[in-house]
Parts: sequence; structure tokens; C-alpha cells
Amino acid sequence: MQVYGLIGNPVGHSLSPPMHEAGYEALDIDAKYVTFEPPAHEGAAAVAAAERLGVAGLNVTIPFKQDVLDAVETDPLAERIGAVNTVDFSGDEPRGYNTDAVGAVRALDHHDVSLDGTAVVVGAGGAGRAVAFGLADEGMTVEIANRTASKADDLAAAVPGASGHGLDALADLLSSADVLVNCTSVGMDEDETPVPAVTLHEDLAVLDAVYSPIETRLLRDADEAGATTVDGAWMLLFQGVEAFERWTGESAPVDAMNEALRAGL
Ligand code: ATR
Repeated sequence: MQVYGLIGNPVGHSLSPPMHEAGYEALDIDAKYVTFEPPAHEGAAAVAAAERLGVAGLNVTIPFKQDVLDAVETDPLAERIGAVNTVDFSGDEPRGYNTDAVGAVRALDHHDVSLDGTAVVVGAGGAGRAVAFGLADEGMTVEIANRTASKADDLAAAVPGASGHGLDALADLLSSADVLVNCTSVGMDEDETPVPAVTLHEDLAVLDAVYSPIETRLLRDADEAGATTVDGAWMLLFQGVEAFERWTGESAPVDAMNEALRAGL
């Protein structure tokens, strides 16, 4: 039996175990997915311990995504993002990936959103970094808007072709944008939005990285404006799907994993 898992602190309410285990069940893979909660700053030690114990793969979440960089051979995209959320132990050395970036790309792709033109990424924290690199790698022109404009500028300097802005630029940016991704925490467990409703329009596809609640105010506003909407559970699903496929080498049973994830939300 293979053991996969998640390190984070806290990991209590993670939806990854039911999502991954639904995938193992659908493909008849003999595996378990368990959560581990090492103390803060013990991320690298936890990766080394997992390797010794024969764990086949680990997801990594807050606060360990940066600590783990030094404990693994880092994939170039994860290196540029500066964060690892998936470790694969199948090679000689543990290898670290960032599937958050690909998760956003695959969530949009799954909804037939074409990944050319301009994407506005709101937020320049961990999620914003991953999504900005992911969309730029697909060839999109990325505009990053953040409450603290200097953080948007710093991130934009690292992402090919990107520019940084304050939130006051949103109306202008969105008037000619194709894709909008909310990567701030605004809307999480509150009926707030970081994007004024009047700036949304029917030619936009809107992905909200927030998945609690699943129907955020931003997505409601986007729906009312006639935009295509993609909720945050899709992004969570596809970062998991991408990790599942790296670990097992199989095409993931997306519908089964999606159903298990949404049942837990
Ligand atoms: P994550 O890893 O989820 O991206 P983070 O790194 O803490 O979390 O980043 C949070 C993001 O939400 C930041 O872009 C933050 O903006 P600042 O850089 O200006 O702090 C943004 N954010 C949080 N609260 C916000 C608010 N009330 N209005 C606008 N942006 C907010």
C-alpha cells in the first residue's frame, strides 16, 4: 500500500484526504492519504522524515511552502514561484513542484476559457504569485493589481511581460481584459468583494480562488454581469488532480475527485 499525505499547520479541515482517496478508489489504487501537522519551521525535517518512512508523495501547505524549497530538488516553475506544494519521492531525490499554478490554468481550461489575451490577477500574496506565473507561462499578458501597489510591482518584475498596479486601476484594466482571478482573501467567510461590480462584463471569465463560501459575492456579481464564472473549488480540485497524476502516473478521475471535494465543502 502507498501512503500519500499533507503537511501543514493547521491541517484539521483539509479536504485533500477525501478528494485523493476518492481518486484511489475510482482507479482501484491501493493507497491512503493522511495529514501530518509538524511544528512551525519543521517543514524540511518533516519532508526528510516522510522520505525515510517510505511516504510516496506529500502535499505541502501553509506555513511550510517556502521551507520545503531547500529540502527538495525544485522544479523550475516552483523555483520561480518560490513555493512548493507537492513533493514526489519516486526518484533518487525528493522533487518539489507547485501545482497551484497549474491548478488555476486547468480550472479555466476545464471551463473552455481560452488562455490568450489579458488576465488581471488581483492579489500579490502566495496565491497571486502562483497564478501570475501560471497564466504568463500560458502566454497571457498578466496585469497584477494589489491593495499594496508596491507588492504588485515587485511580483510583476519577476513575471515575464507583467505589470503591477494598485486596486484603483481595476476599472481601466478590466475594460479590456479576458480573464480575472481573485487571489486575495477578500470574500472568504464574508460577503465582500475586492472588485467593484460595475467593472465586470460579459466578455470576462472570472475565477475566484476563495472557495468558502463557494458562491462568493464576486462570482454572484460576475454572473449578474453575464461573465463566465469558475468557483474556487475548481482550482483546489485541479491542484490536487495535478499532484495525483504526478504521483500515480495515471490520468486522474476528475469527476470522482470533484464529487468528493464538493461533498466536503
Ligand atoms: P495567500 O497566500 O492566500 O495569497 P497572502 O500571501 O496573505 O495570502 O496574501 C493575501 C492577499 O490578499 C494580498 O494580496 C493582500 O493584499 P496586501 O498585499 O495589500 O496585503 C490581499 N488582501 C487581504 N485583505 C485585503 C483587503 N481587505 N483588501 C484588499 N486586498 C486584501
